[in-house]
Amino acid sequence: MEVLIRDTIEEVSLLGAQVVAQLLRQKPNCVLGLATGRTPMRLYQELIRLHEKEKLDFSRVTTFNLDEYVGLPPDHTQSYHFYMQKNLFRHVNISRQSTHVPDGCAPNLRSSCMAYEDAIRAVGGIDLQLLGIGSNGHIGFNEPTGSLNSRTWIKILSEKTLKDNASLFTKPEEQPRHVVTMGIGTIREARHCVVLACGAQKSRAVKAMIEGPVSSMCPASALQLHPRTTVIADIDAAAGLEQLDHYRWIEQHKLDWQTYR
Ligand code: PGA
Repeated sequence: MEVLIRDTIEEVSLLGAQVVAQLLRQKPNCVLGLATGRTPMRLYQELIRLHEKEKLDFSRVTTFNLDEYVGLPPDHTQSYHFYMQKNLFRHVNISRQSTHVPDGCAPNLRSSCMAYEDAIRAVGGIDLQLLGIGSNGHIGFNEPTGSLNSRTWIKILSEKTLKDNASLFTKPEEQPRHVVTMGIGTIREARHCVVLACGAQKSRAVKAMIEGPVSSMCPASALQLHPRTTVIADIDAAAGLEQLDHYRWIEQHKLDWQTYR
């Protein structure tokens, strides 16, 4: 894994945006896998700024989001459809038909999960998958002890995740317990996985992801088997890592073409 450590969430977000922007410039018709949650919000703001100020072009980009709540319609303020419109899509020149978010209200959820996998395959797979990490080590909504080879499917949230995200819902009774999420197997097929992690509450999960054994107890640890994963963490999230100095050493000695600019 490539491990990049920065002092603040601001620096993590700007570097994350740079990684995405570099791909967009190199491959204007790239396929992006997108994440929701608190962590990538500032990254999306920076992408919007680059679009407005530097004409970063989204017109040929295709996107696939990681997950969605079952039962929340796209106009519900806590749905991830709504989140993506609000935080990115409506501010850039992306074509609506090229954006995909799992449908948590599909009449037949199981066949719509399979159709989501087919749609990813039909465009040739995901070039870059953005990811957050849960405090319990989940990626997407793949909770601990689930299969590390799972595909897009309906999952049940753990009590820990429900607690972590409860404050986002003004009416607690509206927080769904079921979600549709890309599986770990789906995520692992992306050509580049980029995980953002900020805050002390993520430090145990970050350590387990990078330095722990590959184990379904920390679903993100499956990324150790991925050929190209970049973790961008702030110092609080990275605080538990044993090899901090080593990651910094490696970054200092990168060759020019191995850096993001
Ligand atoms: P967060 O969520 O960015 O809101 O912390 C991350 C995640 O659960 O994947």
